[in-house]
Amino acid sequence: MRHFKKLILLSLCLSFGALLSRAQEPQIINVENRASMTLNGVWKYIVDPYQTGYYDYRHDERDQQPNPSTAESLFLGYRRQSPSDRVEYDFEKADNILVPRDWNSQKEKLYYYEGSLWYYKAFDYPGDHGQNRQFLYFGAANYEADVYLNGEKLGKHVGGFTPFNFEVTGKLKPAGNFVIIKVDNTRSVEKVPTINTDWWNYGGLTRDVRIVEVPETFIQDYYIQLAGGNDQEIEVWVTLNGPEKAGQEITLEIPGAKTSTTFSTNSEGVAKATIGVKKLKLWSPESPTLYEVKLVHKGHSMSDHIGFRTLETEGADILVNGKPVFLRGICIHEENGIRGGRAYSKEDARMLLGWAKELGCNFVRLAHYPHNENMTRVADELGIMVWSEVPVYWTIQWQNPETFSNATNQLKDMITRDLNRASVIIWSMANETPVSPERTEFLKKMIGIANDMDPVRLISAALERHTKEGTSNTHVVEDPLQEYVDIIAFNQYIGWYDGLPDKCKTALFDIRFDKPVVISEFGAGALQGLHGSKDERWTEEFQEYLFDETLKMLDKIPQLRGITPWILADFRSPRRVLSDIQDDWNRKGLISETGEKKKAFYVLKDFYEMKKAEFTDK
Ligand code: GCU
Repeated sequence: MRHFKKLILLSLCLSFGALLSRAQEPQIINVENRASMTLNGVWKYIVDPYQTGYYDYRHDERDQQPNPSTAESLFLGYRRQSPSDRVEYDFEKADNILVPRDWNSQKEKLYYYEGSLWYYKAFDYPGDHGQNRQFLYFGAANYEADVYLNGEKLGKHVGGFTPFNFEVTGKLKPAGNFVIIKVDNTRSVEKVPTINTDWWNYGGLTRDVRIVEVPETFIQDYYIQLAGGNDQEIEVWVTLNGPEKAGQEITLEIPGAKTSTTFSTNSEGVAKATIGVKKLKLWSPESPTLYEVKLVHKGHSMSDHIGFRTLETEGADILVNGKPVFLRGICIHEENGIRGGRAYSKEDARMLLGWAKELGCNFVRLAHYPHNENMTRVADELGIMVWSEVPVYWTIQWQNPETFSNATNQLKDMITRDLNRASVIIWSMANETPVSPERTEFLKKMIGIANDMDPVRLISAALERHTKEGTSNTHVVEDPLQEYVDIIAFNQYIGWYDGLPDKCKTALFDIRFDKPVVISEFGAGALQGLHGSKDERWTEEFQEYLFDETLKMLDKIPQLRGITPWILADFRSPRRVLSDIQDDWNRKGLISETGEKKKAFYVLKDFYEMKKAEFTDK
């Protein structure tokens, strides 16, 4: 049934997909397994709240001018030539900043800063590079990045949480290169996310920056996964980029599965194959087996580590490798509260996912934007299933075509990057968006694009519930989008935003869909270490009691197949200003920003032990 629906959506979107081709260069995937030179480390920066380095006093863009002023155009990286030469900036004398990192958590004076900030890095690129090509690659930059190399504009990227790259072949010198990037994290209504969110708007080069080196014709991206519910067939496609992409032989080797297959590219440089396999050790949370796979083209080989699992739904069940699962989850923001600021490294991922494992999780909801690739790769290793989401959050401009192409660009980039991650099982289109025809149309099209790109993973969105008319405590999700998603997910805050925890005792949910239900958020704020009665807000006892009552309430929903309580750890939010309690932290974490567990952590841990036993017997 689900695959038939996808076929309908497929035909709907094919014509639509073409319309959305982007100016952006195609994303190079699996960068960590390619030859590259890192530019991470110490950079220089200049804060430019008035964007003087980008706009002249008539507010015309300087980098569009034939002879931009050397005195103010920061992207030129111009150095004073003589004592009389007027230059009103000097990166060499500027302050240092670390990359990857956000700027807010590095400099006291940038804690609240939202605006433009210029990054500068000088570097050499020695050695013979023959016919190879080079790309300047960014794991992400929040929010808008204008990128210049040796004073020349390479391009612009919009969206704070997905990778992008610019070709720099022939533009690099053996010595004395400099890259300059204007990053601007100014919020506004037409953007994605829009102007208001409940997380800190960390700005900057928040993830890795590298020069990636590839052969003249190289493997741009690929898909190597089991076909839908079939563990005997691997679907493969590979895209070549370069002058010799047509009619090329590609070999896929999976030594661990004793298989090696050669297939050829078509005139577009795309090669496809279906490979029969026997007795693959399937990836699952209990045994997260990853196979080394190797793609070989003209003697150039690239490896990756990929898990193979089947994934489907059957009525209200979610089947992984044909077995019903319960998603024992938790929501996570991409933040390392202990160090401060955005999480970005493998160590950060191990810390956050390690805590989730301690909780007894086999699933995490990465809220509300695509997290860094270390998260999904460590989730592959640890056997944690992942919900990945684009920041279509609350009320964005549904009728603005720019907003739509921005949202779909982020969706495509999220999917392209993690298409081969076995851990990722759900693509989420949105969070708590108000029901309207324009909104539903917007999200339906996004679902079509996701189905178009990925024939297997499940589609969802965090919807909202409300009290059924004429009742005081019966809850429904009346949202037309339920028709188009594979998993019905909704946030509910009975006991925190809606009444007190006691209300859970008599609450009922009236859900008419024969689909899996996941509660994508619930929770309560508690200051770690603050103790009192269970009726006193902000105490650990209140949060503990809310978890107790909520889990009992939700466990009565027949279609319940997963939960992701809000949230693993306290996180920064400018909306949370209650002194001595919040102090810029959303306190709904089960762990404090210093890593201390709260009482509710153990309530959920116990519930997950019970759920694990219940589903293991199934
Ligand atoms: C919302 C929202 C979260 C927010 C949370 C809260 O439902 O999705 O981003 O942080 O509730 O209010 O704490």
